Amino acid sequence: MIFHERAADPFKGEEVYKRECLSCHGANGEGKMRADNVCYEYPPLWGEKSYQSGSSVHRLIKMAPFVYANMPNKIATYQNPKLTIEEAYDVVAFINNDTIHKRPQPITKTDYASLPNKPIDYDKGPYLDPFSETQHKYGPYKEIVDYYKKIGKKANY
Ligand code: HEC
Repeated sequence: MIFHERAADPFKGEEVYKRECLSCHGANGEGKMRADNVCYEYPPLWGEKSYQSGSSVHRLIKMAPFVYANMPNKIATYQNPKLTIEEAYDVVAFINNDTIHKRPQPITKTDYASLPNKPIDYDKGPYLDPFSETQHKYGPYKEIVDYYKKIGKKANY
């Protein structure tokens, strides 16, 4: 797994977004519909048509390595990425920041009834570990993973 070394920074991520993503995904994350008005040519990344909070792409460890290896589309590849790992985590922290951006919210109030199954990059506690919600949302993750190893459990992500 590709981890970043420091906490992801949504403000640095905004710069990355403007430079590398805005041309396709739009100034308001709205994406772009195809001419048929049925499918998206460029999917929305936030706003009411986007994925919901708490879904797997709303988590850093799921989405940042995807972005690192695939975005900008048709330019970046796993062997030849365009962004650094830090930039990928930063831009995803910007996109997935629910204070800066609105997106659909889950309709259920209880999530992850089983704490051992809760992913470490899920942004709402409680957790089985002593780390803050902020660290769960932005990392760094290595020390959380190490903590679970120390108590004989496997970190889920
Ligand atoms: C050249 C246009 C283009 C640029 C630039 C671009 N993307 Fe994309 N992006 C796409 C397309 C097209 C897809 C859909 C790909 C697919 O479904 O195979 C996509 C899909 C995505 C998805 C998946 C969304 C979902 O709901 O499944 C994410 C996340 C994403 N892009 C993030 C980014 C980020 C972050 C950047 C900037 C670093 C970026 N993209 C730059 C065209 C672009």
